[in-house]
Amino acid sequence: MVSWEQLEGACAACRRCGLCETRRNVVIGDGARESRILFIGEGPGEQEDLQGRAFVGPAGQLLDRMLACIGLDRGQVYIANVVKCRPPRNRDPLPEEQAACLPYLRAQVRLIRPQVIVCLGRIAAQAVIRPDFRITREHGQWVERKGYWLTATYHPSALLRDPSKKRDAYEDLKKLKSKLEELGIPPAPHREDT
Ligand code: URA
Repeated sequence: MVSWEQLEGACAACRRCGLCETRRNVVIGDGARESRILFIGEGPGEQEDLQGRAFVGPAGQLLDRMLACIGLDRGQVYIANVVKCRPPRNRDPLPEEQAACLPYLRAQVRLIRPQVIVCLGRIAAQAVIRPDFRITREHGQWVERKGYWLTATYHPSALLRDPSKKRDAYEDLKKLKSKLEELGIPPAPHREDT
């Protein structure tokens, strides 16, 4: 099994697809590597590319608020992406870019060994759950595969574009909270505001 150090080294040197030409930083992920809960987004945006951290731009700020709704913060989950380098102008990552990068995500999943994986948006759900996953119809549903509980909800960027979806996303988060309770994944300790 690869170590985090090997994974970081491989990602830093990666030239498996054209996204390496325009990236400023490879964004491997953020949060707690020992967490039982893994969130998977699509790919870094501008701020993530600049800072080398996942979900730190406007979508990330909304993700932080979504986590807070169910008593979590990013120090208690791990957040990764399907592709580790920013697609130019935030376009969807191409199938060949996703295919080139998926071995890194698989390695991350093996290192983290989460019990619960939450896909954020269609791209992640189709890469991780099923290629024909329909986010509008199937968000909030759960499937167990190879010992992992998988679900998907709307990507925070989609919620920023269309706030009417927030109600559904909130229901999905409540189902996530119930699943964590059912699996005995301990609730987040109270976090003092700083
Ligand atoms: N959108 C994503 O899918 N991932 C990020 O890291 C940031 C924005």
